Amino acid sequence: MELGKDKIRELIERAFQAREKAYVPYSNFLVGAALLTTDGKIHTGCNIESVSYTPTTCAERTAILKSVSEGDRNIAAIAVCGGHRDETEGPQVAGYAGPCGVCRQLIYEFGKDITVIIAKSLDEYYVHSISELYPLGFGPEFLID
Ligand code: THU
Repeated sequence: MELGKDKIRELIERAFQAREKAYVPYSNFLVGAALLTTDGKIHTGCNIESVSYTPTTCAERTAILKSVSEGDRNIAAIAVCGGHRDETEGPQVAGYAGPCGVCRQLIYEFGKDITVIIAKSLDEYYVHSISELYPLGFGPEFLID
């Protein structure tokens, strides 16, 4: 699915809004994600930390879990932005925070062509397919024929 500049901007904006909900008492690193389904719906997510660390869930996975559990498995794109609290004002962060390996694996689960937007601000971002970010990934075709 081809994404226009306006849709990319909207997704980044929604990711920054979701980032404000991040529950991050241990890292103070707030991450937001906004995913677009192939039929135009947007689901958002933030990172949610746990005092015992392991249960911590990344923003991208929160958004995917919300989307899939609402019946929306057809994901076209996901935008992500992350940075420490109080580093910057407004919808911008200090650097490009790409999805972690676990999130790349889960994005790949739902489509090798999913577009991943890694944003620093509304106008500064990278756009890659998940296959570019996760080459030779382990996909559903290994277990499902
Ligand atoms: N984090 C995400 O939300 N997404 C990623 O892809 C990378 C890491 C979160 C997890 C943790 O709450 C914080 O960033 C610091 O690692």
